[in-house]
Amino acid sequence: MIKQYLLSPGPTAVPERVMLRMAHPMIHHRTPQFSAIFAETKEMLEQLFQTRNDALILSSSGTGAMEAALINLCAPGDTIIYVNGGKFGERWGKIAETHGILTVELKVEWGSAVAVADVETALIANPHAKAVFVQASETATTTEHPIREIAALTATRDHCVTVVDAITALGVIDMPMDAWGLDVVISGSQKALMLPPGLAMIALSDKAWEMVGANKGCHSFYFDLVTERKNQQKGKDTTAWTPAASLIIGLNEVLKMMFEEGLDNLYARHSLLAEATRAGVQALGMKLVSNVPAASATGAFIPEAVDGVAFFKYLRDKMGVTFAGGQDHLSGKIIRIAHLGYYDVFDVVIALSAIEIALDRFGYPVVMGAGVAAAQKVLANRFAKV
Ligand SMILES: Cc1ncc(COP(=O)(O)O)c(C=O)c1O
Repeated sequence: MIKQYLLSPGPTAVPERVMLRMAHPMIHHRTPQFSAIFAETKEMLEQLFQTRNDALILSSSGTGAMEAALINLCAPGDTIIYVNGGKFGERWGKIAETHGILTVELKVEWGSAVAVADVETALIANPHAKAVFVQASETATTTEHPIREIAALTATRDHCVTVVDAITALGVIDMPMDAWGLDVVISGSQKALMLPPGLAMIALSDKAWEMVGANKGCHSFYFDLVTERKNQQKGKDTTAWTPAASLIIGLNEVLKMMFEEGLDNLYARHSLLAEATRAGVQALGMKLVSNVPAASATGAFIPEAVDGVAFFKYLRDKMGVTFAGGQDHLSGKIIRIAHLGYYDVFDVVIALSAIEIALDRFGYPVVMGAGVAAAQKVLANRFAKV
């Protein structure tokens, strides 16, 4: 037997309590019983988004909500600005092009955050741009972008909004949607929300809803957010189409767990685990991929002498520990260690210990325990002194 550990930045491990809740017999989604769960779930979700507007639940992966944001806000021929600092930033451009939406790409070196001044320059050069699309946390490079500052730039412009992909940020970092003026925030189930893949969430500010109302270009039947809002609003408490009901029931349990922990504690836990992981990999001589590292996952360069693809597969197939590797030009060069969702102190120890053993097996001169020890010094802060 090889015990399996899922330490990738999505999908992430699902808590036992959530699995048990989802294992209950199926219920029909057009019933008062489901609507009561739906209403409670949506209300908690809005507290997590920190918005007084609707947080809509879509039955799709996160990309569905990214596409929904683009096509509900924009029509073919409109211009958008998007930050491309990795695989997921690049996706904004691909979706826009699919729908005939014109794009201004802000290409950022992988591992760096976009400079706010560059966003401002692009906004000045493109006064008709309808939105800036950006990741709160670019998972491909484990980098956080300055979403609050970007939102402040669009806040002063009529008919221009900031759209934030928070798929690996919501429930990881404190990003109060209304207080920071984030116009659209998107998330997905299989990350910090500790669920299997299959749900996306999206919330819009009043300004974004006004733009949706004025937009004549939405060419989607399924992802029509106006229809969704009509159905999901308080009092109706249902979805336009058949929802992924068992995942919504699971989400209800997840959100209860999050509020039992308390949002401040939730963010502090993620921050501590990230700090410990960074300390651990650096103690092993591994360089961080990002110069603005995310709290959701840590990307680190695999030593050059080690075959990165084989290293990653060895960890997964021989040791039972699944991390994420690199994408595109970083394939075989980096490892991404997740620390979001159902993840605590001793998961960091497992991650680093596995990496140390694998490095040793690949002939890299590693001092066993060096990474773990560096992490433990940080992790100990999670426990009170007696
Ligand atoms: C930041 C970010 N955006 C978008 C996506 C795409 O989401 P999905 O794979 O759920 O469609 C991911 C998934 O890894 C992500 O991490």
